[in-house]
Amino acid sequence: MNDKIKFAVIGCGHIGKRHAEMISRNDEAELVALIDVKDKSALGIDHFNVPLYNSLESFFKSGIDTDVINIASPNGFHAEQGMKVLESGRHLVIEKPMSLTKKDSEALIFKGLQKHKQVFCVMQNRYSPPSEWLKDILESGKLGKIFMVQINCYWNRDNRYYKADSWHGKKDLDGGTLFTQFSHFIDLMYWYFGDITNIQAKFADFNHKKLTDFEDSGFVSFDFVNGGMGSLNYSTSVWDKNLESSITVIAENGSLKVGGQYMNEVEYCHIKDYQMPELAPTNPGNDYGAYKGSAANHHYIIENVIDVLKGRNTITTNALEGMKVVDIIERIYNLK
Ligand SMILES: NC(=O)c1ccc[n+]([C@@H]2O[C@H](COP(=O)([O-])OP(=O)(O)OC[C@H]3O[C@@H](n4cnc5c(N)ncnc54)[C@H](O)[C@@H]3O)[C@@H](O)[C@H]2O)c1
Repeated sequence: MNDKIKFAVIGCGHIGKRHAEMISRNDEAELVALIDVKDKSALGIDHFNVPLYNSLESFFKSGIDTDVINIASPNGFHAEQGMKVLESGRHLVIEKPMSLTKKDSEALIFKGLQKHKQVFCVMQNRYSPPSEWLKDILESGKLGKIFMVQINCYWNRDNRYYKADSWHGKKDLDGGTLFTQFSHFIDLMYWYFGDITNIQAKFADFNHKKLTDFEDSGFVSFDFVNGGMGSLNYSTSVWDKNLESSITVIAENGSLKVGGQYMNEVEYCHIKDYQMPELAPTNPGNDYGAYKGSAANHHYIIENVIDVLKGRNTITTNALEGMKVVDIIERIYNLK
């Protein structure tokens, strides 16, 4: 119980380095290795003082003892690398999206069960104070019946982000706008309201024809299996900078809106017999130069992995939830 949990991280870009940093800062964790196809000199990882391997295979051959491997490589590699991690008998932390097909996510869940290993998905926006607040309000039943839910995700991703040598924008490695940009908000929607059905959608590509293999915008509407109807309106075609990611809920006993760039502030709340409490500020967004994406909450993910492996808590975002997000996106994209 007092032993440190040993981690390795595969994919040492923006988010992989954040995993490595959060592992290094946690007293109950130890970073034992990093894995990336690039050379050390290109990665900016010297300060971690751990060996670098260029593949999972070479890392496994090293014989270094590890409990957990965190996958932070491009989306298209998650499923294949995740299978190798579980097959090797390690626990798996897998960045969003869990995979690019439901079939691949199911295979990961099956392998985890077969090997008795945990699969943690990364959806750290759930830890933001407005997300926790909205989840509590919904669970309390104060809102009564849910009538309508509208999710708007209007971001800027232009040629500063979609560079020719990047995995972003490539069908096989990125998967699409809903997988890479907006899966956090689909995760929140599923967490709050459950599954969707009767999906209708229209898509458009306004200004990404030369930058990506897929659409930049969509209007999606659906019914919630648990009652009420919803819509997801999204785009990366916004000029110059992100506009917002917001969720508006119209319910029997009240209405509310959580907005900001990454659903980081409560903009409106009017609920019968209810006084809105003061919320703690949300962590700033993960920084991608001009871009803010999801909240910088990765330390919670590492803490949760440790708590679960030491028997103190349950998984915040489990593999079934990771799979459902992929399933919902796949069902939306199947309407193209
Ligand atoms: N949770 C979040 O908020 C969040 C935010 C951004 C990105 N992500 C996810 O994290 C992952 C990485 O995104 P990023 O922005 O850090 O990308 P990045 O391009 O900055 O980094 C990717 C790294 O993976 C390495 N790589 C490429 N192919 C590899 C392979 N086959 N094996 C090992 N390493 C390989 C690259 O050399 C690079 O260092 C993606 O899945 C992305 O969706 C999550």
